Amino acid sequence: MAQPDRELALELVRATEVAALAAGRWMGNANKEAGDQAAVDGMREMLNEVAMDGIVVIGEGEKDEAPMLYNGERVGNGSPPLVDLAVDPVDGTRLLAEGRPGAIAMIAVAPRGTMFDPGPCVYMMKWVVGEEAVGAIDLDASVADNLTAVAAAKQTSVSNLTVIMLDRPRHDELAAQVRETGARLRFIMDGDVGAALLAMMPDRPFDVLLGIGGTPEGVATACAVKALRGEMVGRLWPRDEDERRRALEAGYDLDEQLTTDRLVRSDNTFFVCTGVTPGELCDGVTYGRHGATSESLVMRGRSGTVRYVQARHLAGKLEQYGIVAR
Ligand code: FBP
Repeated sequence: MAQPDRELALELVRATEVAALAAGRWMGNANKEAGDQAAVDGMREMLNEVAMDGIVVIGEGEKDEAPMLYNGERVGNGSPPLVDLAVDPVDGTRLLAEGRPGAIAMIAVAPRGTMFDPGPCVYMMKWVVGEEAVGAIDLDASVADNLTAVAAAKQTSVSNLTVIMLDRPRHDELAAQVRETGARLRFIMDGDVGAALLAMMPDRPFDVLLGIGGTPEGVATACAVKALRGEMVGRLWPRDEDERRRALEAGYDLDEQLTTDRLVRSDNTFFVCTGVTPGELCDGVTYGRHGATSESLVMRGRSGTVRYVQARHLAGKLEQYGIVAR
């Protein structure tokens, strides 16, 4: 069977670029749906030009709620390789609508059948660390023990570590445990995929992503973890008794520590994202008289290559994509 090869990475980035360029027009417009829809339309159109036979396994939701990029939709031009996609045309729709930093457009790809199926589980606990701290995390150990292990692996002290966490009431207890250790905490409003990347990148001032976030985002993150040679350890986190019961009935083990390999069972992964609003990971899109600019990250699991792609898009191209001034 044909395997996804490196050409795919640079083809995929065109889809996140167009999604970001379309969505960026809605920055600060207080309209979450419009920004997301613009991104979905742009991403889908570009994905269908990519040489692949893809199935969206993690997308905008079930077909009856999501007319495009729904779970199960086939994308690509239908030629090999056979792949699965996790797409989030905007991770951080609220960030975009409120004009805040850190919204990205992203796509993760892996060979057919290798991505974890989150089933009914919307959320999971996530620990993500960079290459130096691989092996340090054990979900059965305390927060303090895990941070001590990360600090030891990085040959520093816990108080020098910075933990990045979604700002949510459900994290009150977890945040208190981090504070107890003396580690620094950085809260973000949304966007734990980008935050996980920042925690893994050696030249960024973050050491650990910690907290409960979306399971779909977790699977996508795992594809980037492969490329950045970091580590992710997670556990499904049912929101209520009903979700717990449905997960157990579907055969999920709620105690299992989900490793990166469990979340994506292949090293031949691809992860691409483009900044929508300006952020610490990527610059946001900008528009001007002559066109627009974008900044993207492109990674491949197998080779471990991580590229920043800065692009200029001429006004004529934007028109071709239907991205016109509102
Ligand atoms: P969306 O932009 O798709 O809404 O996701 C934003 C996000 O912050 C994710 O990055 C994160 O995994 C998830 O939402 C957390 O969920 P919640 O906002 O329900 O706490």
